[in-house]
Amino acid sequence: MTILVLAATGKTGRRLVQHLRADGNEVRAASRSGEVRFDWDEPATWAAVLAGVRVVYLVAPDDPAPIEAFVEQAVRAGVERFVVLSGRKLDQAGGRFGHGMLAAERVVAASGVGWTILRSNNFNQNFDEYTWREPLLAGRLALPIGAMGEPFIDAQDVVEVAAVALTGVGHFGQVYELTGPDSLTFAEAVRMMSVASGRPIEYVEVPATEYEAGLLAEGYPAEVAEELGALFEVMRAGLITEPTDTVAKLLNRPATSFAEYVARAWQRP
Ligand SMILES: NC(=O)c1ccc[n+]([C@@H]2O[C@H](COP(=O)([O-])OP(=O)(O)OC[C@H]3O[C@@H](n4cnc5c(N)ncnc54)[C@H](OP(=O)(O)O)[C@@H]3O)[C@@H](O)[C@H]2O)c1
Repeated sequence: MTILVLAATGKTGRRLVQHLRADGNEVRAASRSGEVRFDWDEPATWAAVLAGVRVVYLVAPDDPAPIEAFVEQAVRAGVERFVVLSGRKLDQAGGRFGHGMLAAERVVAASGVGWTILRSNNFNQNFDEYTWREPLLAGRLALPIGAMGEPFIDAQDVVEVAAVALTGVGHFGQVYELTGPDSLTFAEAVRMMSVASGRPIEYVEVPATEYEAGLLAEGYPAEVAEELGALFEVMRAGLITEPTDTVAKLLNRPATSFAEYVARAWQRP
């Protein structure tokens, strides 16, 4: 049984490929720059990626346009199960961000084959592998989030839950809300990374309008600034602030704490 992992160079995809292979699974790792070339925007790349695949880890593109055609083609090619990475409370965000993820949820639910949705909080790894890395290294993270706590989740926990859903039984039709074990404000999280790394780093709360104007000035397209603005609105409204115990229940171990993540990724040697 070949498992297709999309976004296989990304924060969850990369770890999932390793995790599934270490467990002896046959895995096809696909993305534009990965082992096997897959591009959402080039349907000609899809058939080779899907050949012989029964199970798909689906990380949706931002633009929902290609998702339905891809899922239809996958089912025709013999796919029997999708596990979709999504975000928490997107359905309550008034459709202002996460269009790709929402479309993927809808499309797999109507596909007629098995599906599981993983709705996740922000990953710990956003701090050191992506969005927030540069500002943190520069000593100042400025966001419009307010004093709301967020139960950041470790990408490795998302991966291990994904592996359970991809290879186990009893997960069809399930929507799992995945979080870390404790809710921290961004100010608290930044303080922990600052102390562990020995770097002076401050968290600065900025008004949403100022944040969006800053993105535009840096050259981000207006729709990206708007989408991020809407995401932070959901966070400020406290919609994704409560931890769940889903990770611990599915993995039979506690979810990784933010302190464990900080010790691993930020501790000064
Ligand atoms: N980060 C979070 O905290 C978080 C939380 C919940 C949900 N999500 C959702 O998870 C998804 C991934 O976000 P992320 O920030 O974690 O990114 P990521 O998975 O770390 O990186 C994006 C991945 O997508 C691949 N990719 C980009 N454009 C592609 C295309 N046109 N065709 C095929 N593959 C493409 C990239 O590989 P190549 O460059 O090699 O193509 C890369 O592997 C998003 O939908 C996001 O909303 C993220």
